[in-house]
Amino acid sequence: MEALFFCSVFRSITNIATELTPSLHPTKLPLSFKIVYTGEATMLTTSDNELMTKVGPGTPVGELIRQYWIPAIMSSELPTPDSDPVRVRLLSEDLVAFRDTDGNVGLIDNYCPHRRASMFFGRNEECGLRCVYHGWKFDSNGDCVDMPSEPAESNFKDKVKITAYPCQERNGVIWTYMGPRTELPPLPDIEPNMMPEGSEWSVSTVLRDCNWVQALEGDIDTSHLGFLHFGSVNSEDLTPGAFDYLTVNPRAPQGYDVVDTDYGTSYGAWRPTAGDDIYWRVAHFLAPFYSMIPTNVLGVQILVRAWVPVDDTHSMFWNFSGPNPFRSVTGTKKGKAPGGASVNNDFIPNSSNFLGRWRLAANEGNDYQIDREAQKNNKIYTGITGIHLQDQAVTESMGAISDRTREHLGASDSMVIKTRQSIMRAARNLQEGIIPPTVDRPELYQERSGGVILPKDAKWYEATKELRKAFVDRPELVGTDKGPKA
Ligand code: FES
Ligand SMILES: [Fe+2]
Repeated sequence: MEALFFCSVFRSITNIATELTPSLHPTKLPLSFKIVYTGEATMLTTSDNELMTKVGPGTPVGELIRQYWIPAIMSSELPTPDSDPVRVRLLSEDLVAFRDTDGNVGLIDNYCPHRRASMFFGRNEECGLRCVYHGWKFDSNGDCVDMPSEPAESNFKDKVKITAYPCQERNGVIWTYMGPRTELPPLPDIEPNMMPEGSEWSVSTVLRDCNWVQALEGDIDTSHLGFLHFGSVNSEDLTPGAFDYLTVNPRAPQGYDVVDTDYGTSYGAWRPTAGDDIYWRVAHFLAPFYSMIPTNVLGVQILVRAWVPVDDTHSMFWNFSGPNPFRSVTGTKKGKAPGGASVNNDFIPNSSNFLGRWRLAANEGNDYQIDREAQKNNKIYTGITGIHLQDQAVTESMGAISDRTREHLGASDSMVIKTRQSIMRAARNLQEGIIPPTVDRPELYQERSGGVILPKDAKWYEATKELRKAFVDRPELVGTDKGPKA
């Protein structure tokens, strides 16, 4: 394994020491350096934190994200032509989505350009949404197609438009483009959103009551797995050699390596195996807000997640997944799901509010239904049931926008650090007119993540090049709980 080089790009770090990997299994482990943070200076400045987290119009990161297609709303939320409009907030803009008589989706400004009444109350009829205040009607392109309150001879309607963002649908998702181009970029090659007709795929969303960056950071922070999610799982209850076994034995990775890539950033986090090989968990951040986590086996896991900023203090989690070849977290030898690993995504009914869609029943207001008894007797490490909910609780508990000036980052935060740098660098570059390559090169998203066993002297990123390729069938890997040996 190579030394970690991320420190050079993190300009706030002033107090770093490097040391050789400790001698836990000195004869088995690759020669490695570990970054040790010993000081107080690893936090971001207030201005960097604001740069990274603000998403409204005109903000650097807001403008960066507007370069990309964005998952806006599920197709099922606009089930039929002329069905009810839906309030949608995206990047701090209040919008109204509707499906017109021909099935086309419109995503328009909430505020009628006449005298600012909400278009949500509009009549969805005959290929347009008609404002109920004075009857102005707009089509899905934002053109005013009727203005009955003005004299018949007036051409005023030809001069008025409502802001309308282009939309396209793919596998149950309505995507929108809120950027400046009239010639639109391509949709990203999000593999599970491109599965052919008849194949197994799913998409789901959950609202999170916090800024999108800290939500995303939960996905690229691999060291929390053995604590937050599997803290009550003992290796004796798991099958020796299986990925879950290796994940809790030892509970934290023994080293991390992080790389900048054309699509964003990637990390490899390693643990020893019983033999000479190394177990690597390989995962990615892909611009501007996607993650690929290493839950399953590298090569067959088809899973992409997105953290779409709703506004500065709310984000919408999107989960795109393909067929599940074998979930490595299947349970213990006793047949039980590892403590708290079961799914607990009970939703309350959607309301029509801008922040009323896809909310969980367990939330901050009820302490995420924490079971202190289960926490005390270590049945569930957190006392909170469900992996997603555990993540939701800790990331929301940081506050609506985490104060990164008060953090103390360690070696296990190397992917978080490098990804922050990647986001801020892209935002600053855009202000200089540099467009990120991911905007125009959809193939950069053709990646996969997961766990893999590698020889101890392998360079993980190069060694996994083939296994990381999306859109490849690898039937020989389906059903294994030990993963490929690359
Ligand atoms: S405010 Fe909408 S038509 Fe007047
Ligand atoms: Fe997590």
